[in-house]
Amino acid sequence: MGMDKKISILGFAGSLRKGSYNRSLLRAAAELVPEGSLLEIFDLEGIPPFNQDLEAQQPEKVREFKTKIKAADAILIATPEYNYSVPGVLKNAIDWASRPHGDNAFDGKPLALMGGSIGMLGTARAQYHLRQTCVFLNMHALNQPEVMVPFIDKKVDEAGRLTDEKTREKIGELVASLIAWTTRLKGT
Ligand code: FNR
Repeated sequence: MGMDKKISILGFAGSLRKGSYNRSLLRAAAELVPEGSLLEIFDLEGIPPFNQDLEAQQPEKVREFKTKIKAADAILIATPEYNYSVPGVLKNAIDWASRPHGDNAFDGKPLALMGGSIGMLGTARAQYHLRQTCVFLNMHALNQPEVMVPFIDKKVDEAGRLTDEKTREKIGELVASLIAWTTRLKGT
């Protein structure tokens, strides 16, 4: 990418697991962000189960999440696949940030998706479900490249570092494409 625009990306993974492979993907993405742009990783730990009774006085962690989403130029989600769909932890966090009605933090944000699973379809089914949700949230999801990492347990070392070179390359492409997409949408 020739044009060096400062883009801030907020990334989060739909897993609370300490050794989460999807967090490994995000950390790899953070390493691959070009000079001048930035990827901050937000941890969904501590976001309580959604309760519409609490919409008017949202929990502190939810307010922090929404503030960071709004401040970011773009969003990067790393989703696991649970039972062919999006993990509840991720859907729950997204539901919080989309509320109350009229204050959807994701409105108009450029988005990129990725995900890894131990199965052979690498979160494909979960990612298409997540894309559907993002239509209602009015996010502008990047179509390509699609980063769906199968057999991910063979691609991350004991320290949680993504070691597979091909996958790292793909994530680098995804980040570069998200930055170009965001710049284009900003019209700058
Ligand atoms: C899974 N897993 C899984 N994998 C997959 O490819 N397709 C699936 O539908 C499911 N379903 C599923 C349901 C539940 C409840 C769990 C706990 C797991 C396995 C999944 O790929 C694996 O646990 C990953 O390690 C999850 O991602 P993180 O937590 O490592 O980021």
